Amino acid sequence: MSTTKVLLASLLGALAVQAQECEQTKVAVLGAGVAGIRAAQELSNNGVDDFVLIEYQDRIGGRMHDVKFGQGPDGVPYKVEAGANWVQGTVTGDGPENPISVLAKKYNITTLVTDQDSLAMFDQHGSTDFKYAIDEFGEALEKVVVDAGSLLYNDLQDRTFRAGFRLEGWDPLKNDSYRQTAEWWLFDGEFIYHPEESSEIFTSVAENATFNYYSPDNLFVYDQRGFATIIREEAKTFLPDSDPRLRLSTEVTRIEYDDDSVTVHTNQGTCVHADYAIMTFSLGVLQKKAVEFVPPLPAWKQAAISSFELGTYTKIFMQFDTPFWDNKQYLIYADPETRGYYPEFQPLDIPGALEGSGLLIATVVNDQSYRVEAQTNEQTQAEVMEVLRTMYGPQVPDPTHLWYKRWSQTPWAYGSYSNWPPATSLQSHQNLRTNVGNLFFAGEATSQEFFGYLQGAYLEGQYTAEFVASCIGGSGNCTTSDDEKRYPVLTGVTPYNLYNWEHGWVADTLA
Ligand SMILES: Cc1cc2nc3c(=O)[nH]c(=O)nc-3n(C[C@H](O)[C@H](O)[C@H](O)COP(=O)(O)OP(=O)(O)OC[C@H]3O[C@@H](n4cnc5c(N)ncnc54)[C@H](O)[C@@H]3O)c2cc1C
Ligand SMILES: *[C@@H]1O[C@H](CO)[C@@H](O)[C@H](O)[C@H]1NC(C)=O
Ligand SMILES: *[C@@H]1O[C@H](CO)[C@@H](O)[C@H](O)[C@H]1NC(C)=O
Ligand SMILES: *[C@@H]1O[C@H](CO)[C@@H](O)[C@H](O)[C@H]1NC(C)=O
Ligand SMILES: *[C@@H]1O[C@H](CO)[C@@H](O)[C@H](O)[C@H]1NC(C)=O
Repeated sequence: MSTTKVLLASLLGALAVQAQECEQTKVAVLGAGVAGIRAAQELSNNGVDDFVLIEYQDRIGGRMHDVKFGQGPDGVPYKVEAGANWVQGTVTGDGPENPISVLAKKYNITTLVTDQDSLAMFDQHGSTDFKYAIDEFGEALEKVVVDAGSLLYNDLQDRTFRAGFRLEGWDPLKNDSYRQTAEWWLFDGEFIYHPEESSEIFTSVAENATFNYYSPDNLFVYDQRGFATIIREEAKTFLPDSDPRLRLSTEVTRIEYDDDSVTVHTNQGTCVHADYAIMTFSLGVLQKKAVEFVPPLPAWKQAAISSFELGTYTKIFMQFDTPFWDNKQYLIYADPETRGYYPEFQPLDIPGALEGSGLLIATVVNDQSYRVEAQTNEQTQAEVMEVLRTMYGPQVPDPTHLWYKRWSQTPWAYGSYSNWPPATSLQSHQNLRTNVGNLFFAGEATSQEFFGYLQGAYLEGQYTAEFVASCIGGSGNCTTSDDEKRYPVLTGVTPYNLYNWEHGWVADTLA
């Protein structure tokens, strides 16, 4: 044996010993958010009970994140949703139902039906009316979504959503703060990024999949048990309290993978050697290289991870002694200079919601989020109060409480939810979804049609667990190859006949 070979042999020996010393399991599920819990549940449904679930935080739920805030009656704080807040898309007639809507019904989650016509508008002079701008925007959006369908169906090149808007005659002047604010509210306020930064085809796909295929409903959750009740309760159906398979407060730091197994190392100095792993960490965690992969991820996988965006959506929670606002669901402020400067307020203290709570939420996204998340609560309070006093007058008092979660700085997420930029394709996105060796990927961002939404995380967790379970059982779609589809060489537009089940395509968005 040459010296190199001897060294190599002893190195491999050491690795083998190390792997043997690790706890053995069939599947390691990494992350206990919606995708991870649904994946574990689906493994369990398929008779695979030999799994462990590793989670960074001391709780399950991930970006479903109810937190205590302010002061309620009897001194008990309110529960507010720092993360996911709406059930978006429910069911139309006897059509397919959003699985999140199914769970919200199952656990009797308290919601307010969002009504975007329940609206008061403001500018630098106080109350005003720019409903015409909102209506014009709505008409243009509908047209672009239809145009996007013909790009998709005819295998044509994608473009920016802004291009689609211009072609449909929506192209407001930069100093037209009413139309700019209408656009922010109904576009950036949903997809986080500007139309210039968003794919015309895939933003339209997401819009259709959630709001057409399911339904146009938006249910705002204010349940005082917290929205994540649905995922905590679902977990109990297959993972009893203090089940030793659930490892909370454990950070995955390093993953070794090949075609036979995956070894997961944690910050506790422990390791798990699994036949398969399903990793559900956010796109931000992957992009920030918070986990080391051995061997490094292949170039096409790294390119996919680099090609998609994780946006930041920041909700600033405030509590006031007495409400001073209109009894409307939305208070929209058009700043004369800066698009997206505290443009949206949602009072929770209105009839039909948390009456008597004094709660008000301000929302910012994207660049304004990065700015606000980098400053102190006091600085932010001063800015928000200046806007609220512009809207309602100088008598408006300071809040008694103010808090917001800084998503862009959160090390287990690094952002809120994903956005699909132009200059990508179904194939480049499939490369984000697909496995490398026996390491599989699932989560909100891997969903081709429901990226950004809870249902995306849920359906991807389910899909991946079914795939892995069929690999383990030697049945189903894993019999011919252990690999999901992948495209190491990207060639441009993905032909429409590939928009199928193997690419995670479930909803016919063109219907
Ligand atoms: C502010 C905000 C508002 C939103 N609003 C809505 C909404 O109204 N409606 C809607 O449908 N969706 C909404 N979403 C999106 C929705 O919350 C997500 O799509 C969904 O929760 C993502 O689930 P997931 O399982 O894919 O990822 P996650 O929930 O991020 O789960 C991944 C888990 O992995 C863990 N993890 C990360 N790194 C490590 C590590 N190194 N080691 C171990 N564990 C790790 C994390 O702690 C986390 O628990 C919102 C999200 C945010 C942040
Ligand atoms: C569901 O919740 C509502 C209000 O929160 C309550 O009035 C109702 O009794 C609950 N129903 C069930 C079946 O728990
Ligand atoms: C969205 O749905 C409409 C029908 O309501 C359809 O005309 C259009 O092609 C669809 N667009 C996409 C991108 O699926
Ligand atoms: C934008 O600027 C132009 C040129 O100064 C002006 O004519 C126009 O009225 C402005 N529009 C708005 C909405 O302020
Ligand atoms: C296998 O793939 C088909 C579509 O090609 C899908 O309908 C079916 O549900 C899959 N089966 C399993 C076990 O995953």
